[in-house]
Amino acid sequence: MLGSDVVVEMRNIVKIYPDGTVALRGVDLELRRGEIHALLGENGAGKTTLMRILYGEIKPTKGEIVVFGRRVSFSSPRDALRMGIAMVYQHFSLVPTFTVFENLYLALTSLEKVSREVARDRIEKIVSEIGLEIPLDEVVENLPVGVQQRVEIVKALLLGAKILILDEPTSVLTPIEVEKLFEVLKRLRDMGITIVLITHKLREVKMVADRVTVLRRGRVVATKNVSEVSEVELARMMVGREVFLRIEKPPREPGRTILVVEDLWVQDDRGLDAVKGVSFELREGEILGVAGVQGNGQRELAEAIAGVRPVKRGRIFLDGEDITFLSPAQRYAKGLAYVPDSRAVGLVMEMNVVENAIMTSLRNFVRRFTISTTQALEFATNVVKRFEIVTPSLRAKVKYLSGGNQQKLMIGRDVARNPRIFIVCEPTHGLDVSATEYVRKLLVELRNRGCAILLISSDLDEVLDLSDRIAVMYSGRIVAMGRPSDFTLEKLGMLMGGIVEG
Ligand SMILES: Nc1ncnc2c1ncn2[C@@H]1O[C@H](COP(=O)(O)OP(=O)(O)OP(=O)(O)O)[C@@H](O)[C@H]1O
Ligand SMILES: [Mg+2]
Repeated sequence: MLGSDVVVEMRNIVKIYPDGTVALRGVDLELRRGEIHALLGENGAGKTTLMRILYGEIKPTKGEIVVFGRRVSFSSPRDALRMGIAMVYQHFSLVPTFTVFENLYLALTSLEKVSREVARDRIEKIVSEIGLEIPLDEVVENLPVGVQQRVEIVKALLLGAKILILDEPTSVLTPIEVEKLFEVLKRLRDMGITIVLITHKLREVKMVADRVTVLRRGRVVATKNVSEVSEVELARMMVGREVFLRIEKPPREPGRTILVVEDLWVQDDRGLDAVKGVSFELREGEILGVAGVQGNGQRELAEAIAGVRPVKRGRIFLDGEDITFLSPAQRYAKGLAYVPDSRAVGLVMEMNVVENAIMTSLRNFVRRFTISTTQALEFATNVVKRFEIVTPSLRAKVKYLSGGNQQKLMIGRDVARNPRIFIVCEPTHGLDVSATEYVRKLLVELRNRGCAILLISSDLDEVLDLSDRIAVMYSGRIVAMGRPSDFTLEKLGMLMGGIVEG
């Protein structure tokens, strides 16, 4: 018999993917009514797989699921929703050109017949119950990511969800928005809703979760009350060894100026000015961190420097040479490397690991107009080994790698080329603690060896820990520039949100 407060029990869940990958090796998970349950684990540990099973997207190979006392077998997310289980998607499920209300109404009418008035009443009730401010008549694409995320939560509740699953929900948020999200989650918990929170950030687990389950390589290491474990203990449980949560960075005088950006103007996909007159210099052996909420022009800035987006006005110089109109390949040949903020952009999911590994340095592998497969294979093997990328094989399509392993591949293939200028966006996005530690150390090593790094990141701890100088971007402009010691976490958070002191 289930205890009255147990809402979900997953028993001995095994998942073997069609290609033979064993993602889960007999996992037990118990969720209680009104708790925030964090799911922690290294990249590839099986967190997303476990949750995809719970919300009906995929079927387990073996095992039992009991929801509200009933044995279930879901064939689709719709089945799971009927039992009160919903996934809060990041941004894929809202229609950007519709208003919030239209989106919610659309979702509701897919389940039942209701009038707009009744729907409006119900939505307003939910919104006020959880104390949210959501502009129902605003078009979704005009809303900040944080608000869109809250709309997703309202949508799940509107459709009757009692158990909400959030897979790395804070990765796109500012500190202020993270706090707001957590307030909402706590209120939902107090209303009796159960929340599963997947995150790599131990601090967040301590901030908001009641219990935590740690997975390692498809098995449960332990389930604990959060109040009884420290961050260091959690890290050790995840990785199976000691992890250093801070990075050592020796002081270093930067060398000569390599990259100069002068009064740069760049447009976004809609033709609006995304970068508005940005100027800065980047020197040998320094990390210039650009802090900002995603969507404030950082992506367009990085793309313009990498040469994959045209410049509207202004100039970019490399070693004194004007490269504003050079192709990406010409810039790469001069020692520039670029890691975009999205794996969907940087990788070709339908292609395999080798193909993706050599993609950004193709010309190194071309011999007499054909690609040298031996060399390509050798390069890819090295990248996979050096970065401990977990993949079924070198010929596996990249879409079958876990998020973190995709990220390691995207960074590793460029680091392996020893770039002189490295434009890197959100480098540890989705990485577990040990991989994060690894990538951060790597960036510092590159810098120590003289590489000039432009680090674009919405992770403020990362920007503060790694940067020699910090620029804050807001609404297409650099609104502050200084040394890390000039900023605190709070001050950065405010500047990123467009709040100026005084
Ligand atoms: N569709 C798939 N086909 C084959 N293997 C898969 C598939 N999806 C995931 N895997 C593999 O299953 C394992 C678990 O992956 P999963 O995505 O659940 O990990 P995760 O804990 O969510 O990792 P991350 O923190 O990187 O998101 C990994 O080895 C991954 O490569
Ligand atoms: Mg995952």
